[in-house]
Amino acid sequence: MTTPRLFQPLRLDGLELENRIIVAPMCQYSARDGEASDWHMMHLGQLAMSGAGLLTLEATAVSPEARITYADLGLYNDACERELGRVLAALRNYAPIPLCIQIAHAGRKASSETPWNGGAQIAPDSPYGWLTEAPSALPHAQDEVAPRALDAADMKRIRDDFVATAKRAMRLGIDSVEIHAAHGYLLHQFLSPLSNQRSDAYGGSLENRMRFPLEVFDAVRDAVPSGKPVWARVSATDWVEEGWEVEQTVAFAEALKARGAAAIHVSTGGVSPRQKIALGPGYQVPFAERVRAATDLVTIAVGLITAPRQAEEILQDGKADAISLARAMLYDPRWPWHAAAELGARVRAPKQYWRSQPR
Ligand code: FNR
Repeated sequence: MTTPRLFQPLRLDGLELENRIIVAPMCQYSARDGEASDWHMMHLGQLAMSGAGLLTLEATAVSPEARITYADLGLYNDACERELGRVLAALRNYAPIPLCIQIAHAGRKASSETPWNGGAQIAPDSPYGWLTEAPSALPHAQDEVAPRALDAADMKRIRDDFVATAKRAMRLGIDSVEIHAAHGYLLHQFLSPLSNQRSDAYGGSLENRMRFPLEVFDAVRDAVPSGKPVWARVSATDWVEEGWEVEQTVAFAEALKARGAAAIHVSTGGVSPRQKIALGPGYQVPFAERVRAATDLVTIAVGLITAPRQAEEILQDGKADAISLARAMLYDPRWPWHAAAELGARVRAPKQYWRSQPR
């Protein structure tokens, strides 16, 4: 019997994944001053035992003001590096799994409450709030305090922050880096004409709007040793007329590929409260399929992929090269074990679970 596609290895530059199941980045809002907590040990610990091919760490802020909330994970100082290092050392000891870190700047969506406290913007003069920064002084929602528009020195600082965070990640032995350019956060704010109304070389034409995200990509790619894969997560559409859309995403993906991106992770939405998302099983897969067909980049599909056969079919049909799962992994952290059983494959488990098969 041939191995199901979902359980065939996948090569990303010098990194080989044992299978094509990727745990998607999931913010936990459980850090203090950016530092990982025991929650991260528990959360990442269980996901490290999942049998997935790659575990992506949640959106990790490149500076304190890059955080979505005051409780976001960060990797911008020695204390952050030490505490995340403590968590990763335990993973490495007991449940080694290739790791990716999603590095992020929230831009105008920073300074927010945690989702379980409503998620609203926190005013800059309130405790736990700060003035946000973005390509243009346009708030995300109309009732929010507008961000400060970035100048050239700010952009250099932010690019350097991405680089410094990537270097810290390398020191921690993380295997790959995903640059967060999706979901309406800073780099997506540069890409989308809805949030970028600059009149300098970083706004206006598609080429100009792509410029800063590509500069960040180049700088991070340069800072990460060759062989270690770097890629981006993108929103393929804003789901708003006149917004960023899939053909612009194809152009962005082409540019990333030319600069050495190992893959592209195709999500959607997040830049505008006006978005009208057509939700349904695998609703973002057609965008992944389009980007993959146009660029031939290794493409990761995500979004309401919940069943093993659904995942296998997406790969068999050539719509994507890997599947990333968020909520399905929270619901069933052994999803890859169950998928392997259903499709006729095997995954790795920690030696302590040698008697885990129920038959
Ligand atoms: C997310 N998502 C997300 N995306 C991202 O790029 N960075 C992040 O840190 C987070 N954080 C996050 C937390 C939680 C609890 C959830 C459920 C989701 C989005 C996520 O990665 C994924 O794209 C969507 O959830 C759609 O995939 P699923 O959940 O349908 O498999």
